Amino acid sequence: KRVEIELRINGSARRLDVSPQVSLLDALREYLGLTGTKKGCDQGACGACTVLADGRRINACLALAVQYQGREITTIEGVDHPLQEAFVRTDGFQCGYCTPGQICSAIGMLAEHKDGAPSAATEHLAATGGELDDEEIRERMSGNLCRCGAYNGIVSAIKEVAK
Ligand code: FES
Repeated sequence: KRVEIELRINGSARRLDVSPQVSLLDALREYLGLTGTKKGCDQGACGACTVLADGRRINACLALAVQYQGREITTIEGVDHPLQEAFVRTDGFQCGYCTPGQICSAIGMLAEHKDGAPSAATEHLAATGGELDDEEIRERMSGNLCRCGAYNGIVSAIKEVAK
């Protein structure tokens, strides 16, 4: 059985015919050709599939496309943010596979931090007066893995933009 759904992606309405079980990730990549969003583990462990839904970061592999009708989805194709140049300046990637997810996640993370959302390292954050230092950034970005190990560059890029 298939259903017709309408998603709002990067400011445009997109209609598609999908099975109700199709993940948002597969809807983006397989049905809409938006392959900037990557599939790593397909089970919520790596963060490669991170996109923004109403500005909040989500793992698209864990989201059903049908449930995201009416939400504003932003994928890397729709991102125009200083973080992108900062990643280039700081060598925040090697192979680049995790980068779209890292960038979307970092955008969501900066918004969460601005809203005062706590992280698991809340005590640390309190001790540093709310500053996004290396430890806090690493904690808040811990859902995004980089198999090349470009973490130092990723953290530097985020810190640069968070200033
Ligand atoms: Fe979604 Fe790994 S592909 S978290």
